[in-house]
Amino acid sequence: MHITNTHILVHEFDYLEPTSVEEAVDLLARYGPEARVLAGGTDLIVQMKMERLAPQYLVSIGRVPGLEGISVQDGRTRIGARTSIRSLRNDPWVRACYPVLAEACASFSTTQVQVMGTLGGNLGNASPASDTAPALIVYGAEAVVQGPKGTRRVSVEEFFVGPGRSVLEPGELLTAVELPPPRPGTGGAFLKVSRVAADLAKVNAAVVLVRDGDRVADARLAFGAVAPTPLRARKAEAVLIGQRFSEEVVAEAARIASEEIRPIDDVRSSAWYRREITRVLAYDGLYRAWERAGAPTEPLPPVPGAPSPAVAPPRALRHIRADQEVEVRLTVNGERQRVWVAPNELLLNVLREKLHLTGTKYGCGIGECSACTVHVDGRLALSCLVLAVAVDGSEILTVEGLAGRDGKLHPLQESFIRHAAFQCGYCTPGMLMTAKSLLEEIPHPTEEDVRDYLKGNLCRCTGYAAIVRAVMGCTKQT
Ligand SMILES: Cc1cc2nc3c(=O)[nH]c(=O)nc-3n(C[C@H](O)[C@H](O)[C@H](O)COP(=O)(O)OP(=O)(O)OC[C@H]3O[C@@H](n4cnc5c(N)ncnc54)[C@H](O)[C@@H]3O)c2cc1C
Ligand code: FES
Ligand code: FES
Repeated sequence: MHITNTHILVHEFDYLEPTSVEEAVDLLARYGPEARVLAGGTDLIVQMKMERLAPQYLVSIGRVPGLEGISVQDGRTRIGARTSIRSLRNDPWVRACYPVLAEACASFSTTQVQVMGTLGGNLGNASPASDTAPALIVYGAEAVVQGPKGTRRVSVEEFFVGPGRSVLEPGELLTAVELPPPRPGTGGAFLKVSRVAADLAKVNAAVVLVRDGDRVADARLAFGAVAPTPLRARKAEAVLIGQRFSEEVVAEAARIASEEIRPIDDVRSSAWYRREITRVLAYDGLYRAWERAGAPTEPLPPVPGAPSPAVAPPRALRHIRADQEVEVRLTVNGERQRVWVAPNELLLNVLREKLHLTGTKYGCGIGECSACTVHVDGRLALSCLVLAVAVDGSEILTVEGLAGRDGKLHPLQESFIRHAAFQCGYCTPGMLMTAKSLLEEIPHPTEEDVRDYLKGNLCRCTGYAAIVRAVMGCTKQT
């Protein structure tokens, strides 16, 4: 029997770190189908650990400048491929102009996966259940692709060709997504049904309506997880366009949408349920979009400027062979460390086995439990999905670094003890690291904020009441 080991990454590969888009494209073209782009790794590293993918070369785009951030040129909004799902969820421009995309990103998995996962990776893995794809499709977004022959643009609607397959040819890199200017009188909604809060969709739905008095001037509906690729429901749109908005028209459009999809039975849902829920989501989404299209418009936030630079200053191209070990320098909890690692070593294993910092726990190994949560350069990271070579030069904070040098516990640790929230040694470190990040991002969270932020930190023993109380109880002290 073949048993997948999700603790380590058994597969060996060369690790490449280009310093420009051109260099990345050269490498991808040179190694063709044997190479894969590595962005946040929340999909690729999981697939490799599950031994569903075995690329010979990983081309990390983590240090390529110009791939991150949101800018506006000639009215079109450009989102760099490496922009994180979390920053899209929180960005004022995206929330105001493309709220369906912001809602799609908010519905996305756990906080940790939102922080690590990128827009380019969400399209690059070509999952039929992608949350951003239906939202991008209803806005008429285009993918900007750079390859050996230059740059080409493909509508996101045509980007997907089958489960796990996109129009990207070997040698091509998705560099950005561009959205046309928002149309006046537009309202939209994103709705998702999944098994648990932080999961891929059973069905997701994106709806945009343009309202002209009591008539529908334009309509776009797209669904995920209901066909081999994200699907635009053109027949349902035709039922709505030009019609007076009414219960009959909405019900008919929703019925047509549920007939237009091509769902299957799988681990997440049945085809029958997917049809039923598509009808319900289309109906609810249309009403929500219509109300929003008629709501008074708020003043727009300032137009975002140039994309932000790369996360770390570029350096020379790195090529670490699969059989090579290299020295990686890290600052861990304020102390400089040097460790020798192979390309397939994970940060989790380096922390636990090489630096003996066993506070960071191994739970699932595939991004689902958040027991391995640490901070990398101030951002949440699931250390079970991070290659140690990719964080060379970074600052890492683990639970051992929360207390002061004098041994005084962090206010969150004090609060966890005070509220009896220290429920088990396995989950608490990850919860503390997530809670610290929460209070940095939202200094005065509501209970709902706390529950939402911590939804990826799984507890199977007691529940979350004491944990939520402990985080809330700490807000005045941090
Ligand atoms: C626990 C868990 C929950 C998840 N929940 C959701 C969810 O709710 N909704 C959802 O939509 N997804 C979900 N995902 C899937 C995944 O997190 C997203 O698809 C994420 O956006 C991937 O981004 P990444 O940067 O981590 O991609 P990576 O893992 O780095 O890459 C994914 C794929 O895209 C390719 N790729 C990456 N960037 C580029 C690029 N610029 N050009 C060309 N190819 C590229 C890679 O080669 C790889 O094949 C979940 C994953 C996990 C582990
Ligand atoms: S061990 Fe990393 S998310 Fe579960
Ligand atoms: S806190 Fe660890 S299982 Fe509940």
